[in-house]
Amino acid sequence: MGPVSDTDTVPAAPWWRDAVIYQVYPRSFADADGDGLGDLPGITARLTHLADLGVDAVWLSPVYPSPQKDAGYDVADYRGIEPVFGTLADFEALSARAHELGLRVVMDLVPNHTSADHAWFRQALAAAPGSPERARYVFRDGRGPDGELPPNSWRSVFGGSAWTRAAAPDGTPGQWYLHLFDSSQPDLDWSNPEVHAEFEDVLRFWLDRGVDGFRVDVAHGLVKAEGLPEWDHDQELLNGSAASGERPPMWDQEGVHEIYREWRRVLDSYDGERILVAEAWVTPPERLARYVRGDEMHQAFNFDYLRAPWRAGELKRVIDATLAAHEVVGAPATWVLSNHDVVRHASRLGYPAGGEPTSGVGPDDPQPDAELGLRRARAATVFMLALPGGAYVYQGEELGLPEVTTLPAEVRQDPAFARTGGEDRGRDGCRVPIPWEGDAPSYGFGPGSASWLPQPPEWARLSVAAQTGVAGSTLELYRGALALRREHALGHGELEWDAGLTGGDVLAFRTRGVLVVLNLSAEPVAPPAGARPLLVSGELVDGSVPTDTAAWFALD
Ligand code: NOJ
Repeated sequence: MGPVSDTDTVPAAPWWRDAVIYQVYPRSFADADGDGLGDLPGITARLTHLADLGVDAVWLSPVYPSPQKDAGYDVADYRGIEPVFGTLADFEALSARAHELGLRVVMDLVPNHTSADHAWFRQALAAAPGSPERARYVFRDGRGPDGELPPNSWRSVFGGSAWTRAAAPDGTPGQWYLHLFDSSQPDLDWSNPEVHAEFEDVLRFWLDRGVDGFRVDVAHGLVKAEGLPEWDHDQELLNGSAASGERPPMWDQEGVHEIYREWRRVLDSYDGERILVAEAWVTPPERLARYVRGDEMHQAFNFDYLRAPWRAGELKRVIDATLAAHEVVGAPATWVLSNHDVVRHASRLGYPAGGEPTSGVGPDDPQPDAELGLRRARAATVFMLALPGGAYVYQGEELGLPEVTTLPAEVRQDPAFARTGGEDRGRDGCRVPIPWEGDAPSYGFGPGSASWLPQPPEWARLSVAAQTGVAGSTLELYRGALALRREHALGHGELEWDAGLTGGDVLAFRTRGVLVVLNLSAEPVAPPAGARPLLVSGELVDGSVPTDTAAWFALD
């Protein structure tokens, strides 16, 4: 492990500044015990896939004890491992194996809310209004003569009110508690010093066990505006910022930054380069960049990039704004196209430009053009992996997996689906377990056929085994791109737009002696004479880059 080896022209830099971090969604990665839900021994056994792929680190979505009402983003105990996933010893084995393979390990930290099963919340329910136990959460009296109306108009990101009425210890209707997500996810009150002390201790618990960092869930949500002022707009996970031009009172409040400064001090007191990564659905990039100022977090997910429509002008606008905003604070930009909350980009890009859906797709919705989506997704990835900074890869995108859009209502498990009566299709379609070997039951996800979400039969030909060593497969494309990215240290590059080629629906830039072309126009784009192809997302046609294709060329 350590800084990139290409040190002849790149000064040794902290690993995370150009890292490619692979997101493992533990429920769906690999299932060692065959119960249909992935687990830690399953992940450990498959870590060589990540080393072969050529990524730098693995980020694990939450594996803490949890009733799994929101797939683990409802944490009942921050210092343990959910038995369905394994034990602390299994985690230690995973971490040791990852480090042996040169992979860093990033945990998911969920500080905005706990599970309703957390000991603190149970104690809060059993205690009286105004008690210290309740002061760890956001309990308020209801409005109306009997307090039968919620304290304010806030809505849950998953649909419905953001408040649920708790029973008083004697069983009669009592106070209400705030939950920006599911009612099983009560929000913590970050104005309470006890909450700060608890999370500092949780950070140390995992840092002491050698983790290399934390992806911080809902990093823009912890602090709520004083007095909880009214806000009766619909909420969307993907739109945590300024739907109406004003900043909502639950998102991106100034107070969150002090929390990250505290945490940074904790991380900096450890050896090695441990990192904090903000999951903050905040826009514009200048607001996002405030999370990665020198004494706060290291990286923040660039969701503006993920949401950008497949149009050259809009991609360029986001890239320019991102780089400019991050340069001001001296942080690397990051790039991401898929995760466990959005429609997989191989399907998202199979819709007309500007009409890409970000939240789920159901069987009765307009369906994506699968071939077009994959072609564009491969181009989008090849282009993304040449951009300067860090990048994120979501499990299965290296196989070109599409969103599963045909899941029937009965198998869907996302609380967003249930809370909106199915109006929000939810995120199950991007969470279907990974195919490893096409001819094995559950395609090698587990030893038997069990899989917590059904896998489509077409996935047999998309398995890791089916694509390994196959020229032109999406898996080999990712492997090739990651190897070349490392060889040319592209994450440390400086992007310079190629004024001659960029324009209309074409983007082209130069970075560290490489010319990167993305052609979204109908006409092929010819590279300059002498440019030598290094990598192509599809195939060059007479030496030119055809439509919906990206290519890297060496400029000798
Ligand atoms: C963001 C996570 O990525 C998502 O999966 C989860 O539902 C919410 N935060 C609530 O924790």
